Amino acid sequence: MNMAVWAATQAAWDLGWRVLGVREGFTGLLRGDFLELNPAETLRYARLGGTFLGTSREPDFSAKVPRAVARLEEAGATHLLVLGGNGSLAGAAKLAEAGFPVVGIPCTIDNDVAGSEESIGFDTALNFALFVLDGMRDTAEALPRLFALETLGGDTGFLAAAVYAAGGGDALLVPEEPLGLDGIAAGLREALERQRYAVVVASEGYPDLLGVLGGLEETLSLRLRPTRLGHAQRGGRPSGHDRLLARGLAQRAVKALTWGEAGVLGVWDGRYRLLPYRDLAPRKPWTPGAWGVAR
Ligand code: F6P
Repeated sequence: MNMAVWAATQAAWDLGWRVLGVREGFTGLLRGDFLELNPAETLRYARLGGTFLGTSREPDFSAKVPRAVARLEEAGATHLLVLGGNGSLAGAAKLAEAGFPVVGIPCTIDNDVAGSEESIGFDTALNFALFVLDGMRDTAEALPRLFALETLGGDTGFLAAAVYAAGGGDALLVPEEPLGLDGIAAGLREALERQRYAVVVASEGYPDLLGVLGGLEETLSLRLRPTRLGHAQRGGRPSGHDRLLARGLAQRAVKALTWGEAGVLGVWDGRYRLLPYRDLAPRKPWTPGAWGVAR
């Protein structure tokens, strides 16, 4: 996200615009917490994970939209870029409905924004998980166990599915497709015969994940060694792919604002696509991805 902030700031400066950042997302917007941004200062953050602006989860933002618009107008803002996941983009849609020109950019490691194949942060979070999974496999080849890697992802499995596919997991547990214990155990038994260890990749939102993993440990009579990536997966140095995605989306989003367009700017079939807010589905249809993990 920091890369997107820098690229948007640079693109807007090139147009002679003044750029304001909003501290702490919608919560900061509601209290009018703005700061002046310039390309030199924002570039210093572009290589860092997270967002130097800070973020928030503002409950019931739609009821507070008039206040948010008032704060923007008081600050002299004429256009807004919203970087975030489904909640933030729904907020952006409400601001647009109220007549404020807003373009949204999908930024979430969950990659669950409908209408976009990609979101900023997903690739970095995937690579973080792969680093850990590769290490688990080094250990597993020497010391066979039942390994489990729990990824973030909220109540979705897009991130876990990518980790599973790119890391060569033996079982994938995602909330969209809960499986019976016997079915999972059968797949893991095959892996154990083949390689003496097995790796389960699970999304944090899988129902009763700890119970299921405990059940597998018992059924397979093998020591379980679980690793939970937790919130560390939301950070770390952004990957090259994410930086390019952020730069491209931010530059294109600034152009969209100058053209008077509004909506969520995503990537579709490898091309940028601006989806009007009214066409944005609240939930991305589940697909494990085009990575050969269809079951
Ligand atoms: O939605 C992005 C995400 O990183 C999820 O993967 C994760 O469950 C959540 O945010 C963590 O945020 P919080 O601490 O607010 O639950």
